[in-house]
This record gives sequence, structure tokens and C-alpha cells, in this order.
Amino acid sequence: MIRLENVHKAFGDNRVLRGVNLHIPKGESMVIIGGSGTGKSIALKSVLGLVTPDSGTILVDGKDARSGDKDAFLARFGMLFQGGALFDSLPVWQNVAFRLMRGSLKRPAEEARAIAVEKLRRVGLKPDVADRFPAELSGGMQKRVGLARAIAAEPEIIFFDEPTTGLDPIMSGVINDLIREIVVEMGATAMTITHDMSSVRAIADKVAMLHDGVIQWTGPVADLDNSGDPYVAQFISGSADGPIEAVR
Ligand SMILES: Nc1ncnc2c1ncn2[C@@H]1O[C@H](COP(=O)(O)OP(=O)(O)O)[C@@H](O)[C@H]1O
Ligand SMILES: [Mg+2]
Repeated sequence: MIRLENVHKAFGDNRVLRGVNLHIPKGESMVIIGGSGTGKSIALKSVLGLVTPDSGTILVDGKDARSGDKDAFLARFGMLFQGGALFDSLPVWQNVAFRLMRGSLKRPAEEARAIAVEKLRRVGLKPDVADRFPAELSGGMQKRVGLARAIAAEPEIIFFDEPTTGLDPIMSGVINDLIREIVVEMGATAMTITHDMSSVRAIADKVAMLHDGVIQWTGPVADLDNSGDPYVAQFISGSADGPIEAVR
């Protein structure tokens, strides 16, 4: 469903992606791990066509992000942004139904609202949350609203950028489990980027480790603890000793 071949992207002399190869089959949940600033978000934005690689190929269901109708291309994706990224000035239901109220997915307001309430229920929020504003909600509730928005249009492909950032370990566990349930239930293809190992174990079918601009290792989540890869071993143990330099 998603294929990156020899993708390169630099900003000036900062060579962020240096030949990324990655393949995510339909219906699979891939989690990309790697330290801060290794290019995880750039890789994700490249797939969405929000960042243009310097070279290489990215295909989504056999199509290039840069060819064809942009609106139709983006309509296939759901996205949970890092930090939630809700619209402060819109009530919760309009955040969730945002894409159902404009563009090619546009529906009547009552129908969009009914879908929003249903998706809020799916992520464990009561209907009365629909008319509140994001600032009135806790961090965990905001994350749930972001998740409801990501699934509102029933996308085939869902992206999660650091889904547990800013949450305590217990709320992180709740959100991870909810993501896993929803991805399985929808049969969606999922790409998650995170540095949180609890998310990896909860969400992934397969894991890929990005370091020094390339995918150092990829394999099933069950192989993570016996990957035989020194980068993966160091990352999951959180050790300062190993091939990954802790430059701070
Ligand atoms: N628009 C941009 N212009 C210049 N540099 C950028 C831009 N976006 C990201 N970068 C740089 O690319 C690198 C990777 O960023 P990012 O993909 O956000 O990392 P992360 O793995 O933490 O998600 C960082 O060094 C960052 O500073
Ligand atoms: Mg990032």
C-alpha cells in the first residue's frame, strides 16, 4: 500500500533522509522508531506529499503523491498530528467533522455532526463533549478527539505522529490500546512514528528503525528484542553505550 524507494531529502547540508526504503503492505500496522530529529516526521510528510523528496520514489497504492488530484489523494488518509493540533476556535464536533464539512467529502451539517458524535463515542467520549471547546478538555481527551478526527472519514490509511507525546504512562497505554483496536477493526493500513517503546509494542505488526537517514532494521514486533541489530538494541534499552551517539 505504501512504498518508499531510495528516498533522499536534505535541508541545506543537513542530509536527513539518505536512501530510505520501506514497504507497508495493505492492512498492516508499521511503526517507525528513531531518535528525535532523525527524520521520522519528514518521512511521513513525504508520503502525504507535504514535503517533496530530492530523489527517490514514493508510491501509495501504486500512485505517486505528486501526480493526479491532490484532494482525492489526501482524502484516503487520516492523520493524528503530534500534539493533537486541534482548532482552538471550533467546538469539538466541528474539529472531528472538519473534513466532512468541506471539499469532496462534504455532507450536510446535521449528518457531519451525527458522524462526529458516533466517532467520539468510539474513542470513549460522551455526546456532551461535542459542543465543548478543545481548551476545556484534558490532554487525554484532546488526544481522543484527534483520534476521532483521524477516523471520521473512514480512511484506508491512517498516520499517527507521536500519538502519546505529553501523556502520562497510564493515559498513553489507554490511547495505544485504542489505536490498536481501531486500526484492526477498520482494517486500515497504519504508519505510526514514535520514540515511545510502549506505543511500539501495543500498535505495531512490524517495526522499522530509522537512523542516519536510512532504515537500519525492519522486522516483526515479536523480533524486536532479538533483532541482532545494535542500533535497535541500544534504542530499546535506552542505553548511552552503543553505535548511536547521544549528541545533546
Ligand atoms: N522545513 C524544514 N526546514 C529545515 N529543516 C527541517 C525542516 N523540517 C525538518 N527539518 C530538519 O530535519 C530533521 C528531521 O526532522 P523531523 O523529521 O521533524 O525529525 P523527527 O524524527 O524528530 O520527527 C531535523 O534536523 C530538522 O531540524
Ligand atoms: Mg517528529
